[in-house]
Amino acid sequence: MADRSVTFTGIRFENPFLLSSAPPTESENNILRAFDAGWGGVVVKTIGLHPVVNVVGARTKFFRTSADDNYVSMKKRPGAALHGSWNWELISDKALEWWVPRIRRIKQAHPTKVVIASIMAGSGNDKELRAWQTLAEGCQDAGADGLELNFSCPHMDRKDMGSNIGKDTVLCSTVTEAVKGVAKVPVWTKLTPATQDIVEEAGACFRGGADAIVSSNTFPSLPLIDPETLEFEINVDGLVSSGGLGGPAILPMSLANMARMTNAFPDRAFSAIGGVSDFGQALSYFLLGAGTVQVCTAAMLDSAIGPNVIKRLNAGLDAFLEANAAKGWTTVEDFRGARRDRVVLQSQIRRPEGDAYKGGYEPVEGYAAPETAEVVTS
Ligand SMILES: Cc1cc2nc3c(=O)[nH]c(=O)nc-3n(C[C@H](O)[C@H](O)[C@H](O)COP(=O)(O)O)c2cc1C
Repeated sequence: MADRSVTFTGIRFENPFLLSSAPPTESENNILRAFDAGWGGVVVKTIGLHPVVNVVGARTKFFRTSADDNYVSMKKRPGAALHGSWNWELISDKALEWWVPRIRRIKQAHPTKVVIASIMAGSGNDKELRAWQTLAEGCQDAGADGLELNFSCPHMDRKDMGSNIGKDTVLCSTVTEAVKGVAKVPVWTKLTPATQDIVEEAGACFRGGADAIVSSNTFPSLPLIDPETLEFEINVDGLVSSGGLGGPAILPMSLANMARMTNAFPDRAFSAIGGVSDFGQALSYFLLGAGTVQVCTAAMLDSAIGPNVIKRLNAGLDAFLEANAAKGWTTVEDFRGARRDRVVLQSQIRRPEGDAYKGGYEPVEGYAAPETAEVVTS
């Protein structure tokens, strides 16, 4: 009998699919709707202690592209398909005191669903490290099943916050250790992809005591400049700052990061994020070794909390387990990591032998037809 449930960092999930920390989890109402729709868990929109004021106007827009020209643009065009999301939204603008009673009520209403509290503070001094502990204690006392440390928000100017922590191995260890000092529930750390080698930061988090790595947040990016107006497609008073790219555009890059980390730490827990809207994409992450999968962009575009997305994910998992029952696969754990060892060094990939190698002169898609070299005789 197929069983969707997983146990991840000691927490039981009725299915391995979560809404990630983002607009789908920014309110009590959204989270209750998400649980009714079937999500196994949610990561609450990141909570901080400092005041938050977002930019004027839209905080998220969507890139679309068309088959005719492959042009990626935020402009709405008939028939264009989703390419990615772009946002410059900050963490929750609601205070810890606003969230605490809501987390408590949500857990009381849905004791078998999982609520992970995402938290964020600075890291420049002891007062900031204490702020992480205050947030951790407040959320776990309200009933949160786990904590996700936001080392990944790409919009922070402060050098000791958000993705600037996730780019610094010392800060990754220090903050994780500070939170682990007070945590009674599992601690996950959410990393930024904007780093030289994410394996380094993952290792630093594990050294600090992290129970799982979450990978990842959005990729640093800019909107395009409109060729006619010469203005950025999203701007305030003509100005823009680096924002975060999510959705289908980041899926292959996030898969690469996941493979790097699961190969470096095969016995550790990983929660995957990036471009998931259907089971096929989630499956790639499971096969590379992730134990749970989180979703943002696809859910935002599906009634704000993804009722159809979670239906597809659950149905896809059921069908996959049924199709592979003969292999003895009855849970995600049975096939998790089954393709992790297929990601190897380039030098380990087979080359054609002898005459079979055409030296790159065989025309293939994306390359010009070979030209005969002109022989200069004089
Ligand atoms: C509008 C918006 C707001 C977000 N806010 C947060 C946040 O507060 N905390 C966080 O950890 N990630 C935040 N994220 C990142 C998402 O949780 C997720 O990591 C990212 O969008 C990649 O997943 P996707 O490809 O499914 O969109 C936000 C993303 C978007 C689009």
